[in-house]
Amino acid sequence: MIIYTGKGGVGKTSVAAATALRTARLGYRTLLMSTDAAHSVADSLEMPLSGSITKVEPNLDAIEIDMLHELETRWKEIQKYVSDFFMSQGMDGVTSKEMAVLPGMELMSALFYIDDFYQRNAYDVIVMDTAPTGETLRLLSFPDVSNWYIDRLYGVIKNMIRVARFTVGKVMSTPLPSDELLKDLEVLGSRMKEVQKILMDPKITSVRLVVNPEKMVINETKRAFTYMCLYGLTVDCLVVNRLIPEGSNGYFKEKMEEQQKYMQVINESFNPLRVLKASQLPLELVGLRSLDKLGEMVFGDLDPVTHFSTDKPMDIYSNNGMDVISLKLPFAMRDTVNLYMSGDNLLVEVGQYRRSISLPTTFARKQPSKAEFKDGRLLILFRSDRDGRDRREN
Ligand SMILES: Nc1ncnc2c1ncn2[C@@H]1O[C@H](COP(=O)(O)OP(=O)(O)O)[C@@H](O)[C@H]1O
Ligand SMILES: [Mg+2]
Repeated sequence: MIIYTGKGGVGKTSVAAATALRTARLGYRTLLMSTDAAHSVADSLEMPLSGSITKVEPNLDAIEIDMLHELETRWKEIQKYVSDFFMSQGMDGVTSKEMAVLPGMELMSALFYIDDFYQRNAYDVIVMDTAPTGETLRLLSFPDVSNWYIDRLYGVIKNMIRVARFTVGKVMSTPLPSDELLKDLEVLGSRMKEVQKILMDPKITSVRLVVNPEKMVINETKRAFTYMCLYGLTVDCLVVNRLIPEGSNGYFKEKMEEQQKYMQVINESFNPLRVLKASQLPLELVGLRSLDKLGEMVFGDLDPVTHFSTDKPMDIYSNNGMDVISLKLPFAMRDTVNLYMSGDNLLVEVGQYRRSISLPTTFARKQPSKAEFKDGRLLILFRSDRDGRDRREN
């Protein structure tokens, strides 16, 4: 699975489409999947697409995930229950249907596709085109927060039942949740865990950051890299897009020189991450022919399916009687990082993002004793079992 992410307008959709076209033509059964609500894969491929799978050419399928379609299929039971409930309370049909679109559903839908295709071995490669960084982080961190979310969803529905019972004198036709609904909810949690396994396995999933040689784009890309690591995703390369070809004149010469300066910044700050490059095409980049050209520029002789890095951002090991959780957090400023313990979970907060890491059972009753930054990694040291006990006794 190859997931492209980055700032708006950098070329995610184009690079994703070009990658999918290339893997398909190399003989991999490929699916190009857009999770950006503002879909533009169809424009890029110059062919109509929908929320169902469309064949683009041999070996290449594409889908733009469509929330309405998802509601009518995957979320039918939950949606029907919530909307019937509101209707039974006197709300009109249209509003009650809108109320039934709970936040997070569209995220889960996209993630379910991943699980579906993976379990069925339907494709060799899935290339994901995503919305700009913030939205995509919401998507990719979802399995991590889904436990919390599903509990809340249970809570909401349980509450609705309570309200319904309470007002039963007045409301004649309060629907009770069907077995399908409760079963649906039960399945959600376990499926999200499966998705998380897929996303966090660097031998399966590669996240690729698309960047342009410009200051603001580079800064956002650095942050994206940090947060991807926080959520345990392996970024395996950087695609620098829209480079002005060497030997350009006039205005473009100046632009090219500026870009060269930023190329240096990129190479230095992201080192040792693999960097792939693509130039600005002279003509508009739409349709299979120009996508083929873009794919050629980005990958040359490389197989796009190569995992350029299989480093896991999180590592747990023992050292000198200390247990260590080591989390790669490139570019993270020390003062934006906060750590908390909550039961058996370690909460790591970086800026506005937070991850809850459930500690292995061997960590039970151990005390975090120190945290430090070393070579772009956050090391959290836990005192061994005995020391912990001794300390408490003292
Ligand atoms: N290498 C390139 N050469 C020429 N045009 C490009 C190139 N990369 C992207 N574009 C154009 O830039 C615009 C934004 O690209 P797009 O792939 O939609 O970015 P994103 O998905 O990141 O918003 C599109 O019009 C696309 O055709
Ligand atoms: Mg796009």
